[in-house]
Amino acid sequence: MDQINEAFEKEREFTANASHEFMTPISILQNKMENLLTEESASETVQEHIVDMMKTLERLKKISRSLLLISRIENEQFSKHEQVVPEKLFDEIVEEIGHRLEEKNIRIDVDLKHHKTLDRMNHDLLFQLFYNLINNAIKFNKENGYIQITDSIEGNLYLIAVTDSGQGIKAEEIPQIFDRFKKTGHAENAGYGLGLAIVKSIGSYLKLTIKVSSTEQEGTSFVIGFNNNI
Ligand SMILES: Nc1ncnc2c1ncn2[C@@H]1O[C@H](COP(=O)(O)OP(=O)(O)OP(=O)(O)O)[C@@H](O)[C@H]1O
Ligand SMILES: [Mg+2]
Repeated sequence: MDQINEAFEKEREFTANASHEFMTPISILQNKMENLLTEESASETVQEHIVDMMKTLERLKKISRSLLLISRIENEQFSKHEQVVPEKLFDEIVEEIGHRLEEKNIRIDVDLKHHKTLDRMNHDLLFQLFYNLINNAIKFNKENGYIQITDSIEGNLYLIAVTDSGQGIKAEEIPQIFDRFKKTGHAENAGYGLGLAIVKSIGSYLKLTIKVSSTEQEGTSFVIGFNNNI
């Protein structure tokens, strides 16, 4: 048993170090490429190649950043003692992501009736969790679709639901969507498959429940439950 724990610990440490060590060289390369782009001697073809390489680096950076975040959460490097007011949180998220709604003319309704303050939470992690869910709700939505944010109380759980009118997820794919690097079906939209892995690790760190229900071609609902926060 101890050996298994030690192996786990080493693996976590490795991921944290590895993703951190990736960031610096990536930034150095990005700077160098930016400088190359401004060189007068660079032909148009060379410039196009440099721009392609910069896009690849940007992807690498995003993946490293996401893996680093997951390993920081697993290493318990975040406070769990903050108060978070969901209404304010969603104002912040909509402000940050709002311009993306326009791309597909998507409407977002935030309708939180319970006016809660959540205790023993972490603001930045909850921001990231709901940001990732709303990001997906936009990405996998249809033109002129909608996103609804609603709340309810069920037993001793305070629930927040993010519901979209998008393409939905096949029932047999739902168990895998939280796995790292897992993308399902619709490849044209898919990113790196890390958004929901982050949601899952934040959920388990803050002891939240996560439920998904989805109907193909109709939409998807992610419901996050907060225990002892009634
Ligand atoms: N709201 C949603 N509607 C339909 N499919 C979804 C929704 N949310 C997630 N999925 C499916 O689950 C997969 C995993 O989601 P996840 O957020 O982890 O990855 P991603 O969005 O593809 O990439 P990333 O978030 O790293 O940019 C997605 O590729 C998509 O197939
Ligand atoms: Mg995503």
